[in-house]
Amino acid sequence: MTVEAVVTADRRSQLLALRETWPHVHTLIDEERAFGFEADEDRDDFGTAQQGGRGESYVAAQQARPEARITGIRGLMNLVVGPAAGDRPVVLDLLGGDGLLHRVCLGLDMPDTTIVTCDASSFMVASAWATGVPAVRQRAQQQVFRSGSVDGVLLAYGSHHVPEPERQAVADEAWRVLRPGGRFVLHDFAEGSPMAIWFQDVVDKQSATGHRYAHFTADWMRECLARSGFRGVTTDWMFDPIVVTGTSEQGAQAALGQYLLQMYGLDKLVRAHGEQGAATAAFELALEIFRWDTSTAFDGMGGAVRECVVERLGPSTWQCVLPRFALVAVGEKPEP
Ligand SMILES: C[S@@+](CC[C@H](N)C(=O)[O-])C[C@H]1O[C@@H](n2cnc3c(N)ncnc32)[C@H](O)[C@@H]1O
Repeated sequence: MTVEAVVTADRRSQLLALRETWPHVHTLIDEERAFGFEADEDRDDFGTAQQGGRGESYVAAQQARPEARITGIRGLMNLVVGPAAGDRPVVLDLLGGDGLLHRVCLGLDMPDTTIVTCDASSFMVASAWATGVPAVRQRAQQQVFRSGSVDGVLLAYGSHHVPEPERQAVADEAWRVLRPGGRFVLHDFAEGSPMAIWFQDVVDKQSATGHRYAHFTADWMRECLARSGFRGVTTDWMFDPIVVTGTSEQGAQAALGQYLLQMYGLDKLVRAHGEQGAATAAFELALEIFRWDTSTAFDGMGGAVRECVVERLGPSTWQCVLPRFALVAVGEKPEP
């Protein structure tokens, strides 16, 4: 089976293709679980526009500027692949989308790590395969991997999409699939932070899907991980900016506005102002909302800025940095 053929195929075909392209990951799949339940899809914010989702524009943003979120992705990978990881660590990216983290990590200095893209959305799984990234369709709450089979599990960039009553099940499943010594990393943009305000005041109002989800707090993260049995649980802030470049100051600002329009599917803003006007409006909204307080928790983070900055890097290169700080919890599954 070719990778292209998988794009529209079911889970059975996905697993067949996985066996061909990535046999060492295929051996980690529990076929009884894989064929015992389907990943039901009642609501899919990341499906196609025809399905009422904003998946196409989300994917377009990631594929146009894959390096825009590299700072945060590198930080997460350093946390999830611990010093005790084996020779060829396998990390599950539970909210993997179209495989962005997999692609970004190919460019980082971690050649032996395999990032397995997992996602509940058929459209996202198909988009990953279409770019050559093998992916598995599953819900984070009900995984198809064998117990004790993987070195790291990452729940990032969308943890708030998991329904509140099911969040503990996600941590329990992460615990189940991890081998002893493996790490679970839970990342979210904290409740009450500028990022949560952006979702509430901009994405909820300007996108086709809306965005009404409760974001995690540090206490909630700690409680979740501790209840599942993780040890040495820590929570910390991580600098996780969006960085884009342009050939002029205005170009870099417009590039950020355009990226935000696509990533968050701000269709209503485009309908009201046209593409260019909407990019300007998105940039101005971000400038206003992304102002972080003077909390010392952010001190000492390399390159961290507390409001949006545009700086000149060369004669015709300008860089626009939108500061985001994420909460990250890390826990380890102890040896029995
Ligand atoms: C914001 S996107 C992040 C995609 C990618 N990690 C990135 O950073 O570009 C969130 C993804 O989580 C997926 N998702 C949401 N709830 C899920 C769940 N319960 N189980 C698995 N995937 C889920 C969505 O389909 C979507 O692709």
